[in-house]
Amino acid sequence: MNQPARIAVFLSGNGSNAEKIFSYFKDHSSIKVGLVLSNNSGAQGLQRAIKFNIPTRIFTRNQFRESDEVLIWLKEAEITHIVLAGFLWMIPINLIKAFPNRIINIHPALLPKFGGKGMYGIKVHEAVKAANETQTGITLHEVNEKYDEGKIIFQTTCNVLPTDTPFLIAEKVQALEHTHYPPEIEKWVNQ
Ligand code: GRF
Repeated sequence: MNQPARIAVFLSGNGSNAEKIFSYFKDHSSIKVGLVLSNNSGAQGLQRAIKFNIPTRIFTRNQFRESDEVLIWLKEAEITHIVLAGFLWMIPINLIKAFPNRIINIHPALLPKFGGKGMYGIKVHEAVKAANETQTGITLHEVNEKYDEGKIIFQTTCNVLPTDTPFLIAEKVQALEHTHYPPEIEKWVNQ
């Protein structure tokens, strides 16, 4: 029997993946979303959390990077695992040390290609298109001090047709994210 786990979700924007996660774990027997955190008070994902009655916290760059305040909130909420779902800031070392191999991110391409600084949102799909790739997909990986370079946990692919625009590629990739992120988080937590 696994110990009950409590997930914190970090997001910066829309939060469509976060909502899939909230819904998937809503009545889960051993995994609960205990807290949602954001650097952006206007993030749509915060409203989605409120709909699910999940507590939310907003932080400034200073609180995040120069203090242990966020870490204290995570400890107070008895968080065991951190899930990044469209979170745009790099995770500071105090959190990486406090949650070793317990932070997961989703990237909307097949790492190690199309990752790194500046590779987010539509830019990723534009780069895939410009490189004439015939496949793209999603990568779930653990988070370390470097963007997009932690251990790869899961990848899956979809086809890119010559006629696909970056927006169409984005739609295909988002469908993969919504299908796979919640159950893969469950497996990762229960491993
Ligand atoms: C997703 O494409 C994810 O791969 C990336 O940021 C995007 C977040 O989308 N890390 P949403 O906010 O979940 O709609």
